[in-house]
Amino acid sequence: MIKDNGQDAIHQIAIFASGRGSNAEKIIDYFSSNKTVNICLILTNRSKAKVLELAERNNIPTLIATRDDFYHSDKITKSLAKYNTDLIVLAGFLWLIPDYLVKAYPNKIVNIHPALLPKYGGKGMYGMNVHKAVHKAGENVTGITIHYVNEVYDEGEIIFQAACRLIDTDTPDLIASKVLALEHHHLPRVIEQLLK
Ligand code: GAR
Repeated sequence: MIKDNGQDAIHQIAIFASGRGSNAEKIIDYFSSNKTVNICLILTNRSKAKVLELAERNNIPTLIATRDDFYHSDKITKSLAKYNTDLIVLAGFLWLIPDYLVKAYPNKIVNIHPALLPKYGGKGMYGMNVHKAVHKAGENVTGITIHYVNEVYDEGEIIFQAACRLIDTDTPDLIASKVLALEHHHLPRVIEQLLK
């Protein structure tokens, strides 16, 4: 839903994140002076997630969801509706999105994945697991994928991909930092395009 404040339409973005939230931070920073985009909620499944500190520093409401909240209640949809959420961004969120949320937000949930899907996707393929697998396979290219979310891990329609070259001496940690740099640059810009 898009709210009209009498001038510009305000887009309300909810970010779901399980960890440190460096992508969430880039999104917040990128839109900080944009009066038409507001980060309305940060949802996490981990009560100690670093992303909660980021939310606090930026005065963004938070929701810590238990599995029961997430899969067997209407708490999440109620919170999202309360903030008039019109886009959900998964920025390092590790739980599978349940059917009811996919149906409530068709083509309104996007995920960032740290590889060039369909390679290195699916259950268990997240964070360093992905980069270790890419390293083990001796790939000379990897990258990022931003895609819509459906009921299956990492299988929704691809919106955007960007690649980076790898060299023989790249360790999984070096691969991770190359990929993260791509994520930080592109994710806020792709979101901006989606909102247009
Ligand atoms: C990011 O690299 C993101 O692509 C990845 O988790 C990291 C989160 O970092 N997501 C997945 O692996 C999902 N399958 P951040 O918390 O610093 O943004």
